[in-house]
Amino acid sequence: MSEFLDHIRGELAAIEAEGMTKRERLISGPQGAHVDMEGRRMLNLCANNYLGLADHPDLIAAARGALETGGFGMASVRFICGTQDLHRALEARLAQFLGHDDSILFAACFDANGGLFEPLLGPEDAVISDSLNHASIIDGIRLCKAKRFRYANSDMADLEAQLVAARVAGARFIMIATDGVFSMDGYLAKLPEIRALADAYGAVLMVDDCHATGFMGPQGRGTPAHFGVRADVITGTLGKALGGALGGYIAGPQAVIDLLRQRARPYLFSNALPPAIVAAGLAALDLVEAADGLRAQLFENAAYWRAGLEAAGFEVLPGEHPIIPVMLGEARLAQDMAAELGKRGVHVAGFFFPVVPKGRARIRTQMNAALTREDLDFGLAAFKDAGHAVGVL
Ligand SMILES: Cc1ncc(COP(=O)(O)O)c(C=O)c1O
Repeated sequence: MSEFLDHIRGELAAIEAEGMTKRERLISGPQGAHVDMEGRRMLNLCANNYLGLADHPDLIAAARGALETGGFGMASVRFICGTQDLHRALEARLAQFLGHDDSILFAACFDANGGLFEPLLGPEDAVISDSLNHASIIDGIRLCKAKRFRYANSDMADLEAQLVAARVAGARFIMIATDGVFSMDGYLAKLPEIRALADAYGAVLMVDDCHATGFMGPQGRGTPAHFGVRADVITGTLGKALGGALGGYIAGPQAVIDLLRQRARPYLFSNALPPAIVAAGLAALDLVEAADGLRAQLFENAAYWRAGLEAAGFEVLPGEHPIIPVMLGEARLAQDMAAELGKRGVHVAGFFFPVVPKGRARIRTQMNAALTREDLDFGLAAFKDAGHAVGVL
């Protein structure tokens, strides 16, 4: 045991020496545009709280109501005695919202992606994955026996080459897997081109829309709706724009959902979501459908913030999404910049390897609808100051 622990301590020391230790800051009180963090009120520019619903009174009331009527926990997986009417209501509501036959809930989208591939694809099949897909898609694909192919991020020539390779390898069925929005860059997947290639090669298209559902596309129905194309299977989360608590789902054709209910391991062998979360998910979808005003505010904030950072001289990745990364290069610099911003009352996190490639460290800022113009001006002033302090401006 002591040799083992020495080895583990060595790993930790190596992470620290490379400036890659992730430190968690303590928030007291709810998630929001401002948070109380270790005794200070901070402007918060790094939550996935795109529509600002994480502390919405309707969601709190729905959750509280369900605690009273449905109890605290289910103490069971779904198929033993963990399915309430509420679970089926949310699955039906999500399916209707996303325009699919049915959906199935998981404890998180990490589990949805982890459980999706293995029941649907066997060794005769192939899965083709974008190189920047979320870790949970990568893990889910590792767990299935299909042949694996990978294409360079959003490189359509490479995707086509991989489709050809999968066909040459004799694949029975091919699934293309992509994030709808790549979470480290805020880039949108090229869904119209991907759909066309999927159709040309007879492939099934799976889209993880965690960073889009609720605010991209008409009524927030996500990237497929934004582009006016169809995804065959969608995965998503309740942990971001839809209230920000937790819970994941897969939506798709009835037969796919039915088979996942029989075979998806994170569904079969993990607890049912608690009633409060499920009821709040239903309330979140009602809010989201009617949230054109919040969506307009979100994208207005994103455009203002992006323009302000660019005018200040920061290198910002191009795009339209409320994920707006400020590129800094080395991990240490991203850490220093985040610390300088912290001193100035702005909470952001540095992102570095292994979350993004080495040398591509950044501060990923994220806009939300609850931020005011005053907040953004305060944030921009802090970024300029901090940029001078660390020498990037
Ligand atoms: C693209 C993507 N997929 C999946 C997940 C996992 O979602 P959850 O937090 O519901 O497990 C995330 C969250 O970080 C994500 O960004």
